Amino acid sequence: MFNEISEILDAGFDGKEAAIRGWIHRTRSSGKIVFAVLRDHTGVVQVTVKAGNLPDAEFEDAVKALVETSVEVRGTVKKDDRAPGGYEVLASGFNVKSFAQPYPITKDQSEEWLREQRHLWVRSRKMTAIMKVRSTMTGAIHDFFRSKGYHEFTPPIFTPNACEGGATLFEVKYYDREIYLTQSWQLYAEAMVFALGKVYDNAPTFRSEKSKTSRHLTEFWMAEMEAAWLTYHDVIAVAKEEIKFIIERILEYNQAELELLEVDSVKLAGMLEKDWPTITYTKALQILKEKSGMDIEWGKDLRTVEEEEIMKHFDTPVAVVQYPKAIMAFYKPVEENPDDDPPGPVAKCFDMLAPDGGLEIVGGSERDTDIERLIASLEAEDEDVKNYDWYLDLRRYGSVVHSGYGLGVERTLQWILGLENIKDAIAFPRTMTRVSP
Ligand code: 4AD
Ligand code: MG
Repeated sequence: MFNEISEILDAGFDGKEAAIRGWIHRTRSSGKIVFAVLRDHTGVVQVTVKAGNLPDAEFEDAVKALVETSVEVRGTVKKDDRAPGGYEVLASGFNVKSFAQPYPITKDQSEEWLREQRHLWVRSRKMTAIMKVRSTMTGAIHDFFRSKGYHEFTPPIFTPNACEGGATLFEVKYYDREIYLTQSWQLYAEAMVFALGKVYDNAPTFRSEKSKTSRHLTEFWMAEMEAAWLTYHDVIAVAKEEIKFIIERILEYNQAELELLEVDSVKLAGMLEKDWPTITYTKALQILKEKSGMDIEWGKDLRTVEEEEIMKHFDTPVAVVQYPKAIMAFYKPVEENPDDDPPGPVAKCFDMLAPDGGLEIVGGSERDTDIERLIASLEAEDEDVKNYDWYLDLRRYGSVVHSGYGLGVERTLQWILGLENIKDAIAFPRTMTRVSP
């Protein structure tokens, strides 16, 4: 029987015998004593190996063992304020399972080198903490929707259709024809709401982004929802509630990780108490002009710089609604009663922007139920309408108002943890220039 390291870092274990196993995180020796910090998935603890307390051969192995050597240790737990975590294990047994070669990762290496070594760097305390929070987050997404009566529906990944425009589609050779990797589950979710009413998923999503930025991946995870009978205002309320639920869970389960990653959890908790505003695109341009002196022509999509600037004026996420119809995907319907007086047609759509950087973490909308307008929009985008005939059937057989959104899992994690680069929000990032390891 082995103990997990977190278990023995507890007052109740002081003076007791323990058996732990893991990997050497750090080690130093001086003559007849070795201090090895051992790591497992629950934490780290100092193992003190003194010659004479264990068989000579095992002591010699402890002296030789390099970082990342795997080992089983037996010994007595003892309180020691100088040790990380406040306890050490005085070893009476040090059983090396596999000696490690000199480890390629040392201090002060570049981010890109660490990404080259990602298969090893995932063992770092930083990446381990991030991946634990990610696991909490994706678990919370399932719990949130299930508790509200949503059904999980998983989409096909190979698809004949574009959802978010042709520019970022990945083509795949599929026998003797070309198809695509999915850009969003949405079109299939729209079919499913006529059967299941309310659906959600968390699935891999692909975009052949043409630029290298700190906020774009080519393969990422999108957690989407779609529901019959709901308007875009209804689903904005769901999105705000979902993100608050995710934050609450992380605060509940991941205090240790938040501390290690130097996240201000008081600030995060404070966001749960506040109402998160909804503003129009037109209002966002006004804010840019009046508060930041940036004059953006109405009708242009917001760029990263502008999203960042807008969010300097807010301390919670904000839903920006009613973007110009002309720059929106084909399925977003026109809003006939806009909140302000925009100079052109706007859509029933929203983006959720996050404070501290202006990341777009969610995108969603109502879906056009007018088949003629859908066909016209597809044609305007040079799409082959034939490929969408199955989708148009959804408007021919009992169409109803329906809406949904997609939450970027890595974007949301990047924001919550304050990660500089989205590549650290996923274990094995895929970007324009990186497909390995
Ligand atoms: O805003 P997007 O493009 O919306 C859709 O795909 C809709 N069909 C979703 C829906 O209504 N069901 O993407 C949704 C979110 C973005 O807000 C962003 O958080 C994330 O997906 N995202 C990316 N994350 C990482 N890398 C990329 N290249 C991303 N592109 C979008
Ligand atoms: Mg978007």
